[in-house]
Amino acid sequence: MSSVVNSDRIPNNVHLGDDKKLQRALEAWQPRYVEWWKQMGPEGFQEDDVYLRTAISVDHEGWAHFDYVKMPEYRWGIFLTDPVPDRKIGFGDFMGEPVWQTVPGEMRNMLRRLIVTQGDTEPASVEQQRLLGKTCPSLYDLRNLFQVNVEEGRHLWAMVYLLHSYFGRDGREEAEGLLERRSGNPDKPRILGAFNEPCTNWLSFFMFTYFTDRDGKYQLLALAESGFDPLARTTRFMLTEEAHHMFVGETGVLRVVKRTCELMKQNKREDARAEGGIDLATIQRYVNFWYSCSLDLFGGEISSNAASFFANSLKGRAKEDSYPDHKALDVGYAMQVPVIGEGGRPTFRGEEVPLRNAMNEVLRDEYVEDSQRGVDKWNKAIAEAGVSFQIKLPSRRFHRRTGIHAGMHFDVEGNPLTKDEWEARKHQWLPSEADEAYLQSLMSKPVYEANQMANWLQPPPHGIKGKPVEFEYVRRHP
Ligand SMILES: [Fe+2]
Ligand SMILES: [Fe+2]
Repeated sequence: MSSVVNSDRIPNNVHLGDDKKLQRALEAWQPRYVEWWKQMGPEGFQEDDVYLRTAISVDHEGWAHFDYVKMPEYRWGIFLTDPVPDRKIGFGDFMGEPVWQTVPGEMRNMLRRLIVTQGDTEPASVEQQRLLGKTCPSLYDLRNLFQVNVEEGRHLWAMVYLLHSYFGRDGREEAEGLLERRSGNPDKPRILGAFNEPCTNWLSFFMFTYFTDRDGKYQLLALAESGFDPLARTTRFMLTEEAHHMFVGETGVLRVVKRTCELMKQNKREDARAEGGIDLATIQRYVNFWYSCSLDLFGGEISSNAASFFANSLKGRAKEDSYPDHKALDVGYAMQVPVIGEGGRPTFRGEEVPLRNAMNEVLRDEYVEDSQRGVDKWNKAIAEAGVSFQIKLPSRRFHRRTGIHAGMHFDVEGNPLTKDEWEARKHQWLPSEADEAYLQSLMSKPVYEANQMANWLQPPPHGIKGKPVEFEYVRRHP
């Protein structure tokens, strides 16, 4: 079991105190990080006491401590899961060799790119969510938002630790860059598309934590297989925290759906909006939007980068153990590749893509399947309420902006459309300005009383860590 130092300025289980140079570099980065947090973190709540969990070790039982803390004073630490003795590389060209504790020279650029891309998503999501506190539906939800935010901050620390420790001056520069880019800023945007989309209401927040944090889960699972052992160990621990983010999304949408059904039953025309709720058709449009943006995060279906990451044993598949063969050579992946046909309507041709080049799509397959599970639970609740409606994940061709479908148009079933057909119908499928305005108005009054809940969602069945739902999870300081 690794020993944990919680008394240092930076809590850690990596013997940071033994490496003075590294410790100094990270201690110099720390105030800039806190500056970023104060500027770009949750706006208007920095003085409040929030009942948060803080990672204090990687011990399975009791890895976290729960207490009130002001967010800028949160103890962001560096925690890697304990090393697996004699761990061997589990896939790719270096399979069977001992894992690397330092970065092999020829892989430096590739590996740095993987780490920076992952790292960039963490502060980006905090930036996207920074105004949501002002429209929160309850203190319970407000606390969950902040919990997700501080942990995304810790995930940034996890990646910055790797950059500082293993990439010298380039790594330090990249760590600065991670604090300089801004979500949605046209001059210095975050690296990936979905992390520049505004997240302006709580339905989007729940969709984001369900769909976009789940992309995070799959990226982390793939990196947890890495031959570069420090990356594998840090991402493994990040997954522990990530599970809560997806829980917030899944149960958040579930509570909205259940409340919507209740409100529909109270209304003669089953009109949820008339009762101050969110109608199921609107929920479906937000599913379509956030799911399709999140699919893009996996990258192109046919990708030479993905092939090199796999070949070089840097990024595997999620749960590599569950695949029969770990070399992925001489195997193909059958794909329907769209090409623009007559009148601008896409048609398809079948292609056998070398499996290594299809690794993004393989990971996306796992994600699609996993995403369906929560949707099934939402649909079960709708059926149990006696409402006839089914939420559906759109086709993976729908509304894509990276990969083979980018620049082409498809309906939610995946049928090809011309550009004109798309323009005429897209608002059936994607949130409109009117939807956005409706949600904004519905959520314009935040709920800051411990025993209250906004009208448009159900209370959760349980509170946090054995506390009642009505617990004062955030103590506001006016
Ligand atoms: Fe994260
Ligand atoms: Fe997350």
